[in-house]
Formats: sequence, C-alpha cells, structure tokens
Amino acid sequence: MKEKENVLDAEKTKSDEFETNIRPQRIDDYIGQKDVKENIRVFIEAAKMRDEPLDHVLLYGPPGLGKTTLAHIIANELGVNIKTASGPSIEKSGDLAAVLSTLEPGDVLFIDEIHRMPRIVEEILYPAMEDYELDIIIGSEGSTKSIKINLPPFTLVGATTRSGDLSSPLRDRFGIVCKLNYYTDKELSDIVKRTSRIAGMEIESDAALELAKRSRKTPRIANRLYKRVRDFALVGGDDKIDIKVTKKSLDRLKVDNYGLDEIDIEYLKSLITKFNGGPVGLETIATSIGEEVTTIEDVVEPFLLQEGFVKRTRSGRVATEKSYEHLGINHTFSLFDTIEEE
Ligand code: ADE
Repeated sequence: MKEKENVLDAEKTKSDEFETNIRPQRIDDYIGQKDVKENIRVFIEAAKMRDEPLDHVLLYGPPGLGKTTLAHIIANELGVNIKTASGPSIEKSGDLAAVLSTLEPGDVLFIDEIHRMPRIVEEILYPAMEDYELDIIIGSEGSTKSIKINLPPFTLVGATTRSGDLSSPLRDRFGIVCKLNYYTDKELSDIVKRTSRIAGMEIESDAALELAKRSRKTPRIANRLYKRVRDFALVGGDDKIDIKVTKKSLDRLKVDNYGLDEIDIEYLKSLITKFNGGPVGLETIATSIGEEVTTIEDVVEPFLLQEGFVKRTRSGRVATEKSYEHLGINHTFSLFDTIEEE
C-alpha cells in the first residue's frame, strides 16, 4: 500500500534548495508589496511589545507573488518556528489535529491553499483559532465522545489564490487580511538582481529589466526564468548575464515580449480562432486547450485579465482588441464587443 504523505512538508529537492537560498529571510529584504509590508511590520512589533501571539493572517493573491515567503518572514521576525501544511493535504480532522498538536507557544502554522481544506476540517479550525482549543470527536457510531484539548497560543497564516472561495466564518477569523499585488518591472528587476547576487553571477541592469518585463509581474516566474538564462550564459561561456544572452534565452523558452508563455498564447488563439473571440465559458476553453479549469482560472487568467488581454463578461470570456493586436489577427467587429463586464 502506498504510504500516505505526511501532512507536514515532505523532503526538499535540489531545486527547492535554490528557492530556499534566494528567499528573503527578513522583512527588510522583501522587495515590493510596500503597504502590506509596512502594515505587517507594525502588527509584528505590537504583538512583540504585548508579548502576545500575532493575530491570524490571511494572505491572498495570484500564485507566485511571495505568500509563502512572507509567511516564513513573519515567523522569522517573530522569532518563532513555522510549521507548514497545505489545504489539500489535510483530508481529515485527524490530519489537522496532528499538525496542531506539534505547535509550541507562539509558533506560526502556515496553511497554503487554505481554500482547498475540506469543510469538516475547517470547522475544527474555528475553536482552534478563536480559543486555542481543539474539539475532537473520538470513537465510532453509537459510542462517540467529544474531547477538548488545549493548544498553545499560535498564529495561523493562511494563503489562498481565491479569497472568495473561503467560507465567511473562516475569513472572519483572520484579524489581518492582506492582498498581494502584481509587481512592477523595477521591483522584479531588483528581485532578479538580488537572486543573481546570491547565485554569484553578475547581471547587467538592462538584462535584469528585460527578464523582469517578461516575467508576468511575478517573482516566482522571474526567478525561474533567471535560472534558465543563467544556464544559457554558463553553457555559452559567458561570465556575466547581459541583454544578448537574456533575449536569446527568453526567445528560446518561447516567452514573448509581454511575458506570455505558450499556454497564454494557446488560450488567446483558441478564444479568437475557435470561438470567434468569445464570449465562451471557462470549461469550454479549458477543454479546447487541454488544461485544467483551475490552472486556467488561478494561473493563466488573472494575468491576462489584469493586462487587459481578456475580459470576463456575464456570458463568458471575451478577447480584447489588445489580444488581436498581440497575435496579429485582424479583428472584425462582432455583436458581443459591447457586452457588459461581469
Ligand atoms: N522572492 C520572491 N518574492 C520576493 C520578494 N517580494 N522580494 C524578494 N525576493 C523575493
């Protein structure tokens, strides 16, 4: 029988190691998200002055914007341990109880993708968050017993790409709610320069900016592309990363000038050529390009919407003029062009 994966984080791979090394440890090293950062700094200081655990924190926003990084920084700045788990890995109330029982006073419990936790598990979290109490039911049909276990005071940091998918009782139990936004090119280029410094490779400013511009405003993508550009530079015998090797690498990786990758382009092409620019439903478009609905909704669409390549209307997704222009497809006017946004 396949052993069930531990609820707490599994072993780290080599690639995780790189991610861990480049992850900022202190709030001062975290680039961008100015308002979130300054607020969190105050709340941490106040919690420390009162000698109380920090209120529970909900971080939300598109994937790759640094929610996990921020959770680790919060624990570091508080000077406590962090235990991590993810919504989908907590299947039963017992799984959550197992994680909660490892906590020491003041610890941070980080639950990634908290919106994917089953409702039954979520309900155990309410008294744990509110009163640091664990109510568990033991035994089976007919002879069940409810027992209460006291937990040490702790801080739950939840991360989600969809705050709308959280039940309101859960959302209401977070005292601190922070929305992470897409990064500017300047912030991303600073992140890339910092990564390169840690990796021990020189990168020229225009190269860092080019990488930033093609990273979908997302640090995770910038760092991922950085690693590949560094590979091209190394194999090409370059001792630093310049604009030439950066452009060549990004072109070879099929990342275009807007940072759109193959999936984005397929999505837009499908929307325009198969569905006449829309409106078309999410499931239909996902099926047509063979991607999961959740990938489209959580990863692909947020950036395309933010950059104005698509619009969400009541009757489905619609390609904008910008998409036609970007793909070099002639746009003939259709009835749906005037359709109202959702
Ligand atoms: N890596 C990922 N997100 C980051 C950020 N906001 N600042 C610095 N490095 C990062």
